[in-house]
Amino acid sequence: IVNRKPIVIANWKLNGGLDLICMSLASFIGKQFDGTIAICPPYIYMRDMMAFLKFSELLIGSQNVSRFESGAYTGETSAQMLKEAGCSLCLIGHSERRAMFNESNEGCCIKVATALNHNLLPVLCIGESQAEKDAGKTSAVLSSQLTQGLANIALKGRDLCIAYEPVWAIGTGLSASPERAQHVHEIIRNELTSLFGIADAERIRIVYGGSVNKGNTAQLLQQKDIDGLLVGGASLDTEHFLAICQQA
Ligand code: G3P
Repeated sequence: IVNRKPIVIANWKLNGGLDLICMSLASFIGKQFDGTIAICPPYIYMRDMMAFLKFSELLIGSQNVSRFESGAYTGETSAQMLKEAGCSLCLIGHSERRAMFNESNEGCCIKVATALNHNLLPVLCIGESQAEKDAGKTSAVLSSQLTQGLANIALKGRDLCIAYEPVWAIGTGLSASPERAQHVHEIIRNELTSLFGIADAERIRIVYGGSVNKGNTAQLLQQKDIDGLLVGGASLDTEHFLAICQQA
């Protein structure tokens, strides 16, 4: 049995500012956690957040990464730049980026490879929409997001994280039930087994996201295949996020 250390990731999206950074610093300073805790602020605040690292065990992540290494790509930030800035992980293919910025599975795949090459932990986000769920297509959607988003990826001992975020649960207050989330995480792990073999599939952390709060954290984390959480709205309230992290 592989012991997967839980990871809790805050995704601030297009929110937060220096006041939230200061409040987070005040709350998290000197705190110890069994699991790994990471915050993904907007790019512009990453450097400010690094101040945390001196006083806490928090990791900093990015909400996106460029598929390109360098060159004439206005507005992009490369994996190497993120690494240099002290970033440890990056979200890839969040449903908001897929829906609003036309991110494709193929593009996500390039980003996963780029992140791995620069020793950033890729957190590939996948999930079905309400309509896909209603049509009974959840497994098929996740399977194509995984097979295309991870096509030709060789892990070679490097870490990968998958975030299951059902689109219908994001920002709606309607979290997936722990049982349903476990069921889907098991499907994801089986798909990872076909892609990478059992040893890697058992090592890869699969985190759940979608209306996570301090009230549903414990039950979600008790599930066998739920190895952590990706928290949106609740991470913007520092005390609330701390209460979630303390349960991990
Ligand atoms: O990436 C996290 C996110 O999409 C979930 O958001 O607000 O439902 O926790 P929220």
